Amino acid sequence: MNKTIVSPSILSADFSDFGGAVSQIETSGAGWIHMDVMDGSFVPNITFGHHLVRALRGKTKAILDVHLMVVQPGRFIKKFAESGADIITFHYESEVHSQKFLTEIRDLGLKAGIAIAPSTPCSVLEEILPFIDLALVMTVNPGFGGQVIIPECLEKVEKLKKIRDNAGLDFRISVDGGINEQTAEQAKNAGADTLVIGSAFFSSLDKKSLITKLQN
Ligand code: DX5
Ligand code: ZN
Repeated sequence: MNKTIVSPSILSADFSDFGGAVSQIETSGAGWIHMDVMDGSFVPNITFGHHLVRALRGKTKAILDVHLMVVQPGRFIKKFAESGADIITFHYESEVHSQKFLTEIRDLGLKAGIAIAPSTPCSVLEEILPFIDLALVMTVNPGFGGQVIIPECLEKVEKLKKIRDNAGLDFRISVDGGINEQTAEQAKNAGADTLVIGSAFFSSLDKKSLITKLQN
């Protein structure tokens, strides 16, 4: 059983103070920083790109967990790797040749993740599971923070955990969207070992105890 990792998403941070957000995440005890890259095409929202990854790389040793919500993310893998990302996750729905790009990410020395939106069944991932370090199950439709979890998506977490354990693979299973103290419990029970948490983290008054609770 993997130790639970919490990855606070700076999508819910104060956009005029990302440095401050990094400090808040570091002092909370969470070891990862989730960075939601949106292009306004794959999802109806625009956030930031590899320049912010580079800027935050200069400020922290935390794991930079980059979630690409862009059309044809393969075009940008090298840029994000050179900028200091540790994990690059892209959407299955956004690339035809996902195996090729997962391998490219690993060849660059990074961890490779694949994400699926709520409408995508996890069965499409079966043949590429040996090539991933992380499966990110979206528990809301991607594009915005602060949405309510779609609990049916957790069935995919259960299925992926079974497939992983039966096959003896060791990728992490992450959930992203609508995660708070209550839904984190449900997600962990389903088999998630990595929790992305945006609005519930940045609105919390006691981030340290929130992270400690979620980790245990
Ligand atoms: C949504 C993003 C999420 C978002 C989660 O498209 O992928 O990472 O930041 O935010 P909350 O936790 O507020 O749902
Ligand atoms: Zn995300």
